[in-house]
Amino acid sequence: MRKVVVTREVFKETIDFLRIHFDVTSNQDDRSYSRDELLSIVSEAEGIQTAGSDQVNDEFLDAAPQVKIIANTAVGYNNIDVQACLRRGVVVTNTPGVLDECVADYALGLMISACRRIGEGERYLRSGQWKAFYFKQMLGLDIHGATLGLIGFGRIGQAIARRANGFGMRVLYHTRSRVCEALENDLHATHVDKSQLLEESDVVMLILPYTKDTHHIIGERELSQMKSRSVLVNIARGGIVDDAALIKALRDKTIFAAGLDVYEGEPQLNPEFLELENVVLSPHIGSASEPTRRAMAMTAAKNLVAVLANNEAPINPVNST
Ligand code: GLV
Repeated sequence: MRKVVVTREVFKETIDFLRIHFDVTSNQDDRSYSRDELLSIVSEAEGIQTAGSDQVNDEFLDAAPQVKIIANTAVGYNNIDVQACLRRGVVVTNTPGVLDECVADYALGLMISACRRIGEGERYLRSGQWKAFYFKQMLGLDIHGATLGLIGFGRIGQAIARRANGFGMRVLYHTRSRVCEALENDLHATHVDKSQLLEESDVVMLILPYTKDTHHIIGERELSQMKSRSVLVNIARGGIVDDAALIKALRDKTIFAAGLDVYEGEPQLNPEFLELENVVLSPHIGSASEPTRRAMAMTAAKNLVAVLANNEAPINPVNST
């Protein structure tokens, strides 16, 4: 039987499904493998179900000379050197579609938390500081009637726009290419250039892939274009925002607040974030609802089965070999 490795704990049904077809080594104890351990575990694998935290590069591929498919259990795949895989004829797949609504829900949650100071309020209460009612306490920003600027307007961005319509928000978006007019009309979304989006939005939300072209597309200059009472939400990837520049903007209050699920160099994050009240921080859990994580794990497994067991085309290829 062909050998498959699953690098992080997934749900039992996924392992059971893979075991019908493969000799499966799975990390159901969810150990955080050292790099050396990981490289040795994949040495005989023909298929590897990776997590977004596994770096798949030439070193990894050298350590897994039999590998034919990397099935990443995430929609983003910036952890994978797709060109290196392509050169070696290794298929790469991801999990698009199954997490759109879940991530869109979470994006709205971060936005509301940051605008309405929910995390700050909870910290205040838990630390025993709440002694009296103050009429002007913890004043935040309105969501209804505000302008939402989405940088990135793929499936998740569109799902966010749909929700924003329900909140009575005005929706702007910026992408390299416009979506069709019918979709713009359906989502009441207007395509604008990046400067206009930054200048007019009350909430700037990032939902685009991280590539060398999107590295630090929000830095000091862009933050200075944002309104002083605006909020930045990043549910895409660390590295899209220059975290040091964002910390400075939050500290100087040149923007109102931020809601972040992703960081440069995560799971490390710049410790200065922890000192700021006007930022909501979460540990990259945008797609972490149980049904969605179940669906993501099965999507990755189905790609392994299609390619390795059934000799079929991958269901969700991100490169073509
Ligand atoms: C989560 O961040 C994903 O890319 O699926």
